[in-house]
Amino acid sequence: MSGKIKIVTIIGARPQIIKASAISRAIRNNFKDKISEIILHTGQHYDENMSAVFFNEMQIPIPDYNLNVGSGTHGYQTAEMIKGIEIVLIKEKPDFIVLYGDTNSTLAGAVAASKLNIKIVHIEAGLRSFNKSMPEEINRILCDHCSTLLFSPTKTGFNNLVNEGFSTNNNAPFTADNPKIYHCGDIMLDNTLYFSKTAAQHCKILENTNVTSGSYALVTIHRDLNTDNPERLTSIFSAILGIANTKNINIVLPLHPRTAKILKENLSSVVYNRLKENSGIKIIEAVSYLDMIELEKHSALILTDSGGVQKEAYFLNKPCIILRPQTEWVELTTHGSSILADADESKILQAAETLLSKKFNDFPALFGYGNAAEFICNEILLNN
Ligand code: UD1
Ligand code: UDP
Repeated sequence: MSGKIKIVTIIGARPQIIKASAISRAIRNNFKDKISEIILHTGQHYDENMSAVFFNEMQIPIPDYNLNVGSGTHGYQTAEMIKGIEIVLIKEKPDFIVLYGDTNSTLAGAVAASKLNIKIVHIEAGLRSFNKSMPEEINRILCDHCSTLLFSPTKTGFNNLVNEGFSTNNNAPFTADNPKIYHCGDIMLDNTLYFSKTAAQHCKILENTNVTSGSYALVTIHRDLNTDNPERLTSIFSAILGIANTKNINIVLPLHPRTAKILKENLSSVVYNRLKENSGIKIIEAVSYLDMIELEKHSALILTDSGGVQKEAYFLNKPCIILRPQTEWVELTTHGSSILADADESKILQAAETLLSKKFNDFPALFGYGNAAEFICNEILLNN
């Protein structure tokens, strides 16, 4: 026996790989004698630029296990993950399982661990869109309600947990029936701060994409709500064309594979052809994390339906149009530098008009100070 606490970390989708790098780094730097980490990759994301690229550039340890589950329906994908995670948990007998965010990999980890009475640490707990037609909303709620240590990045997330009945007065020892909730800041900020300088030193993405600093809007789209609905997708892309033409700026759009596969099929042929013909619209493959940070940092405006990208816009003091009907990150819209425009062409154009003509100077530390991973590791140690 090493006397160390053993954790099994579950990753699967791109943002989880990115988030997990902050905890792995904290363990490597400050807790290597106290915490041993086993990493399990479900294989939910598997393309080189959706998975492997992050391990290399963010110094994430190679996963100890890869279930290679791949794509499929929600039921198939989640069930295959539960089966594989259960086998590993029985073999490894960890003290804790660490789960990130709200994907099917998160839900699978929560189900497998709770049936084995393994304590769950949920990082990014408490976030709610209050829209249960989003698969992620179901995953978040179910995971939170069987977790033992719940780390919320925002005060709003913490308050959501309190409103759902989580007590702020529980005392150790903590269990799934007597959980502990924390407001601790956002580990994504840990990463943005940590990698920003490296990105500036090494990335050539602006040159490679043939754009200059401040001359483009950065766009990401991958939510099923948008990609799988031809009307919404066409409306968003019509707005993007409108911004490119009326604001005289380039558009850089690193495409998620989900969107890449469905773009031609779900866009109206008129909009698809106009996109293809417009040399100012640069549709590229999904990029690495360092390239993404660099693209965000030099953009004039960000348009996204991503949870992570809307926060990174704020971290890097950029205005952002959120291409969804609601957001879990309500602080962003309250601050004013982000506007919810859903998939409504005229709202998106109006938001671009508003945000490009304003200067936002004050970005209070709504997401902490970039030390959330250290805090989380300390609490895991204290509560074993
Ligand atoms: C998933 C998460 C979503 C998260 C997103 C991050 C769920 C329910 N959704 O959505 O919350 O915001 O990841 O990016 O867990 N594909 C590839 N190569 C890959 C991965 C996916 O081609 O490496 C394609 C496949 O056609 C697949 C589709 O993308 O069917 C969707 O992938 P999936 O992981 O099911 O959902 P995401 O939309 O990526
Ligand atoms: N990201 C990236 N390359 C891209 C697009 C996004 O590295 O081409 C990063 C982005 O910087 C953020 C994370 O992926 O850290 C967000 O993941 P995603 O948008 O896939 O999922 P979400 O946050 O919506 O769950």
